[in-house]
This record gives sequence, C-alpha cells and structure tokens, in this order.
Amino acid sequence: MPTTDGSQEKTLAALGVTQPEQLAPLFAEIRARFDGESSVARDEATFRQFRDAWLGRKSGVLAGITDNWLKPATAELKRAVGAGLNELRAHVDTQIEVRRMAIESGAEVAAGAKDRVDLSLPGVVRPVGSRHLIRQVFQEIEDIFVSIGFSVVEGPEIETPYYNFEALNIPEFHPVRDDMDTFYVEAQDATGARTAPGSLLLRTHTSPVQIRTMEKRQPPVRVIVPGKVYRRDNPDATHSFMFHQIEGLAVDTDITFCDFTGTIEYFVKQYFGAGVKTRFRPSYFPFTEPSVEFDVSCIFCGGSGSGAGGATCGKCKGAGWIELFGAGMVDPAVYGFVNYDAKKVSGFAFGMGMDRLAMLKYGIDDIQVFFQNDVRFLKQFP
Ligand code: FA5
Repeated sequence: MPTTDGSQEKTLAALGVTQPEQLAPLFAEIRARFDGESSVARDEATFRQFRDAWLGRKSGVLAGITDNWLKPATAELKRAVGAGLNELRAHVDTQIEVRRMAIESGAEVAAGAKDRVDLSLPGVVRPVGSRHLIRQVFQEIEDIFVSIGFSVVEGPEIETPYYNFEALNIPEFHPVRDDMDTFYVEAQDATGARTAPGSLLLRTHTSPVQIRTMEKRQPPVRVIVPGKVYRRDNPDATHSFMFHQIEGLAVDTDITFCDFTGTIEYFVKQYFGAGVKTRFRPSYFPFTEPSVEFDVSCIFCGGSGSGAGGATCGKCKGAGWIELFGAGMVDPAVYGFVNYDAKKVSGFAFGMGMDRLAMLKYGIDDIQVFFQNDVRFLKQFP
C-alpha cells in the first residue's frame, strides 16, 4: 500500500508546520489518500492489507501521525493536531467497517451462487426396480386361490424335525427322509445356549405349515402357504438347493376326492389357460393317502410330444405331459398329530414347485436365471 513515505513519516517541524491553520491541508491530503486506497480494497486479502496499513499499531498511518505529529507537537499545535487526528480516525474507522461489511456480504453472495441448485439441469436418473418374476407368480397364484375362498399363511424357514418330518407321518429312518435330510443348523435358544445338533433344519418343503396351521385352527381350514424351501439337490436346469413352493391345504367335514380334483383343475386352467389338459398319476407321500402326481399337457408342444419340424419336444421329452406337483387326500395319521378327529374330517393337500410353474408359463428353460439377478433377465418381466 502506498501509504508509507507519506507526510505522517515526518515531524511537523520537518514539514515546516508552526501554525494550527497549516494542519488542515495536511489532514485533507491524508484523508484523500485514504479514500483513494479504500476503493482499491475489493477482496479480503487487499482489505486486510489496507486496514493494517492505516490502523496497524506500529506502522499504520494513524500510529505515524500520533508518533510523529502529536507526541512531539508544540503546546500551541497539540490541541489542533489532536482534533484533526480524532476526526480522521472517526472517518477511517467508519469507512473500514463499511468496507469490511461490503466484502463479507460479497463473499457470501459469491459462495451462495456457487452452492445454488440449478433446477434447469437434468436430474440423476435412478432406475426403478420391479418385482421379481417369482414374486409376481406367487401373487398370481395367490389371487386364484383367494378368489375361491383360500387364505394365505406363512411359516418359519428354520424348522424342527418334528414339523418337517414326524408330524407329517415321516418317522426317523423312514426312507423318504433320504431325499430330504438336508441343511441342519445350530442356533442359540432364548437363554443363549446352543441348540442340540440335529434339532433345527432349513425346511425342505412347505408342508410343515400344514401342521402348524391345523394346530392353531379348527376345521374348516382352507389355506395356501407360499415360501422358500431348501434341499441338498445339485443345481441344474430344473433343480436348485433353494427354491419356492406353494402348499395348499383344505380340511372340513365333507371334503371328497372330487373337491380335490375340481379345485386343482380350476387352478391349472386359470393359471395356464382353458386349453390345457390335466391328469393324475398314482404316487406316494407319507402324509397323503391316496397320493398323486399331477401332470399338465405340455404347454410347449400342445401335448403332441413333437416340436418344430416333427422333432421330439425338448420340454416334455416327447411325453406330451409335464409333471407339475405332488398332492393327495390328507392321511388320517396326520390328523392324530394335530388332535383332529380323523373319523369326522377329511381334506386334501398339494405342494407345487413355484419356480417350475413360472418356468413353464413364461418359457424359461433354466431355473438358475431366477437367482442370478441378471438385469437383462429381470427387465423382461417388468
Ligand atoms: C413335496 O415337497 C411335498 N411336500 C408336496 C406335497 C404337499 C405332496 C402336500 C402332497 C401333499 P416334492 O418333493 O415332489 O413334494 O416337491 C414338490 C415340487 O417341488 C416338485 O414337483 C418340484 O416342482 C419342486 N421341486 C422339488 N425339488 C426341487 C428342486 N431341487 N428345485 C426346484 N424345484 C424343486
């Protein structure tokens, strides 16, 4: 700042000032200098430099006037120097404060302009996901059954062998367990102690929820049970170690095999379309008697067994039929586990592989795609 080497650096005697009237032009010249420099201080750095040049305790202009003019002034000049200095100081203080506020608010405006949101810019597009096909098919199937009087219930995925096997009439060492003896887990009970080995497992089917439901409710019972199940099956195009089932259970005092077949056929025609044919084959499940496997005419070849150009249909392997699920009339032995009177009640149950139902309807030839979360696949089912 060019304030150094100004008149305040010299004493009044050196400046040739002997009379009070000579002071006014000196103070006027300094004030004009101050006003000129003040307009140059436009940002924080130059403002600080400017302020220190004028108000600095040791080398500021006002300190120079105090040291070089006021202190050594003759008695005749002292009063006039003091008055002139006070007036100058008041001007300098006021203007420096005005300047400070102007610079600070200018900086705020500049910062505000930097942070301001520009609403005209295009936004960040976050892709919206969709419900997984399995979830959509669950909903489709639930809607069909709810429309004919079934309600939806759920059960735990971690089960005890009692509900997963014994109460379903599958005692220990029954050969049926071989296919299902599967993922046993250890957990902590309510006291923090480890559960005994073999006392908990990931359920292998949704059938345990039949038992849990009948324990809680008296007939009539009409429920479906969607959920995940787990088996030690090796993964291939139609098998996964985790898959989905929908269990169905209807128990009342007068349910017959005709109610059973009518319900199942109604469902299949609603789900696949009125054109499909259905058939039952004898089968075996320890908890149903009689037991059946339920087949549907091949959706891909229309039941002919031949594909394009007369070749064997790859989906049904020429059979014209595709196995859909296991079912049957509830075995009276099961009623014993839930304190139902087997002489008074009857009912039917079924357990469908959800993933395979979805594959058939939507023409998917590998079950694994359901679990790979490939967006290119998921996007096809918005
Ligand atoms: C059962 O799980 C019985 N609980 C079904 C049942 C319920 C019968 C009520 C009678 C009364 P199954 O083991 O057959 O049955 O399995 C039922 C369906 O699950 C099969 O038809 C098939 O569609 C599907 N499934 C079985 N294993 C797998 C697997 N590893 N991956 C994908 N789907 C499978």
